[in-house]
Amino acid sequence: MKKILLITGPAGDAQGWGDINVTQSIKKAIDDSGKNARIAFVNTMDEFYFSLEKNSFDIVWSALYHISGKSETVGMGDNNEKWLADIFDDKGIPYIGPDAKTMKALIHKTETHKILKKMKISVPYHYQLETSDPLPDIVYPAFVKPSYESRSVGISDESVVFSSEELSKRINYIESRFEQPALVEEYLPGDEYTVLMLGNGVHQVFLPGKVMVDSSLFGKYPILRSDLRGVGVTKIKPVTRKKEELIELCRQAVEALNCLDHVRADMRLDADGVLKIIEVNGIPGLKPAKSWSPQIFSLRYPSSDGPLEEYRKLIDHIVTSALARCNIE
Ligand SMILES: Nc1ncnc2c1ncn2[C@@H]1O[C@H](COP(=O)(O)OP(=O)(O)O)[C@@H](O)[C@H]1O
Ligand SMILES: [Mg+2]
Repeated sequence: MKKILLITGPAGDAQGWGDINVTQSIKKAIDDSGKNARIAFVNTMDEFYFSLEKNSFDIVWSALYHISGKSETVGMGDNNEKWLADIFDDKGIPYIGPDAKTMKALIHKTETHKILKKMKISVPYHYQLETSDPLPDIVYPAFVKPSYESRSVGISDESVVFSSEELSKRINYIESRFEQPALVEEYLPGDEYTVLMLGNGVHQVFLPGKVMVDSSLFGKYPILRSDLRGVGVTKIKPVTRKKEELIELCRQAVEALNCLDHVRADMRLDADGVLKIIEVNGIPGLKPAKSWSPQIFSLRYPSSDGPLEEYRKLIDHIVTSALARCNIE
């Protein structure tokens, strides 16, 4: 029986697929698929190394990019500490998900944009700025967000700025509140989409969805503010227009960034209706039925046995495809 070690910790919700309840749901889905999962909840690097020694497993799946005691924010980790995927590579341990180089590029949204732009893949204009930097000459409105966070942390109607004064104020806020540079982007006022990439090779599928929120919940702008995330108000609807374009853009990004197993690309339309990538998530949310990946999967592969069976199939797709990729048969 194939054994999967699930690694999580205090930062599982901020960095990864969700809190410990989500990790337990993943474990159940794996166990119900005729495999065996164990959970290692680690607070420190020592506990992490110990979990690798004391457990026997065929493959690891981590909710964490790096070990952190911070339960609210992601950050880039301690400069001196390796990321988990670095350590798996050093030790020759098979793992689910992209390698450390890709994970770092995905978390760091400016880096993602740079790589994609170099490959001529559609992204908004982007500048990484600190308070001390001179302001670039940009077209307003602009959108200002933390360079490496998730779950819309740091995003509100104040993220949309119309002048250099508002821009510097917001950069200041991001820097002092989140201890990181701001990412300043072209404001994309159009519809929002997300495309799920699952599996590799013959197991690979691209599943697009439209992100919908009841418009009465929006304030000044139709954006996913932090208070709209994780509270069950964002719903994924089937895509009627631009399906091929969404899939193609995600495929290009996945190839340029070397993504594996399970990632999700967020996109929006600009003022002219052109589709642009805003970010690619390296460890997408996996809250059963509620996170976007399970919602998209259920739309595409509905089961008469209900959402939990759909969830089991989603998890099994990711695990089975990763095992095949690592030649663990
Ligand atoms: N350039 C932008 N223009 C308009 N809205 C944006 C832009 N970037 C992000 N947003 C809004 O903020 C939300 C969160 O941004 P995103 O970059 O996906 O970060 P997170 O990692 O927090 O999901 C998006 O879902 C979208 O609604
Ligand atoms: Mg996002």
